[in-house]
Amino acid sequence: MENPLSVIVLAAGEGVRMRSGLPKVLHRLCGKPMLRILLDTLEGLSPRRLLLVIGHGADMVKETIGPGYEYILQEEQLGTGHAVMVTEKFLEPDDVNLLIMAGDVPLVTKDTLEGFTRFFLEKRGDAALITMEPEDPSGYGRILRDSSGEVRGIVEEEDASREEIAIKEVNASIYIFRREALFRCLRHIGRDNRKGEYYLTDAIRELVKGGGKVLAWKSTDPTEVLGINSRDQLAEAVRIMQKRINQHWMSQGVTIVDPRQTYIEMDVQIERDTIIHPFTFLKGSTKIGEACEIGPFCRIQNSILGKDVVVEESVIRECVIDEGARIGPYASLRPGTHVSSRAKVGTFVELKNTQLGRGSKVPHLSYMGDALIGEDVNIGAGSITCNYDGVSKHQTVIEDEAFIGSDTMFIAPVRIGKGAVTGAGSAITKDVPPESLGVERAEQRNIKDWRKRRSGEQGGKR
Ligand code: UD1
Ligand code: CA
Repeated sequence: MENPLSVIVLAAGEGVRMRSGLPKVLHRLCGKPMLRILLDTLEGLSPRRLLLVIGHGADMVKETIGPGYEYILQEEQLGTGHAVMVTEKFLEPDDVNLLIMAGDVPLVTKDTLEGFTRFFLEKRGDAALITMEPEDPSGYGRILRDSSGEVRGIVEEEDASREEIAIKEVNASIYIFRREALFRCLRHIGRDNRKGEYYLTDAIRELVKGGGKVLAWKSTDPTEVLGINSRDQLAEAVRIMQKRINQHWMSQGVTIVDPRQTYIEMDVQIERDTIIHPFTFLKGSTKIGEACEIGPFCRIQNSILGKDVVVEESVIRECVIDEGARIGPYASLRPGTHVSSRAKVGTFVELKNTQLGRGSKVPHLSYMGDALIGEDVNIGAGSITCNYDGVSKHQTVIEDEAFIGSDTMFIAPVRIGKGAVTGAGSAITKDVPPESLGVERAEQRNIKDWRKRRSGEQGGKR
């Protein structure tokens, strides 16, 4: 079997055109840093080694990407050619063929890289590179070919002549080199160019000059090899990735009413026959069960929804929602909340760290924080847990089948027994025993002819 490739990812650049405090390769697409996406793809190739050249924001990159990679520090970023030069002393005798690529090309797929690798191994070149013809070639290095169509070199846009700029075929920044041929050429490249950098692309020209065999593999899908240098290209990459994700879920039996207005992150999972309405954001490790109806206008993050759940116009973060529950419109479910099966959380309701038992309802305008609510409980409109005394949080327990009158305040800690009732407008400070009525309310006074008397005082005006 052929010796597997060793991979080198160049991720040391600052990404000046992003105008950002964050190293470019850490900018996110559909929930993941672009470098993370690329590394996941590369690991699918089972490379011999995976070397990461880092430099600008090296600590931040290491911290975000984590252990498990061989990091090589390029202290001064003197160009892509220089980034490869610094890896030389870390290479081992078995690192024979090197797949070298930029860290800002996250949309490339495993299929493409495998096809490219096969091409290189079959054709037995000294180097191979991926080229493409994007609609707008600006910013990319142009591919120079001779009259017989063989690659002669690559010219960077800044250094290109008028005729060269008109060339449509560009360099994707994905290469395979025979290691020995590459480092021989890198010794000859200089930095006499507009940017004053050592260009990796110049190694191609040197190779050809020395009689080496350089192969070009044209990508049929330029969207795969889009390089991200600016916020504009980042947005374009997000759009492409979002389309891929949505197409995947539609192929798995999920209805997405308008895929252009639906944002599903990479690690989300969705079961079939679920319908997703527009302006919905499914984020993080969210899992959606079968036959749910989500949206419009929902944001669901790191949450687990069972089957047949309906959510409209709501925000749900770090929650578990069981089968058949109904949420919204306009509910905010905060971390630690568990809504059991067939329960209902209605309009303008906020739940935080609250367990809502099976079949229980909080239909209107309520806040339940740190509450343990049993089964078949009904919480009247406007009820609130006063769970925070300014120092610590306290629990409210409402047992099964309790009936909570509208505008009840629970001054926690407090317990409402099984089947108990609270009177509307009560501030409940003491436990209510099972089956009892808890009521706390000043008696109403009606003052006769109050209006008439008041207008007398004001000179007869009503
Ligand atoms: C590069 C290619 C260009 C190609 C384009 C495709 C060169 C000289 N040019 O241009 O032909 O069309 O990619 O997207 O290679 N990096 C380092 N250390 C450095 C400089 C850069 O690690 O000193 C890394 C960057 O982090 C980045 C990658 O190399 O991930 C490419 O650098 P970038 O500046 O984005 O090159 P482009 O101008 O896009
Ligand atoms: Ca780039």
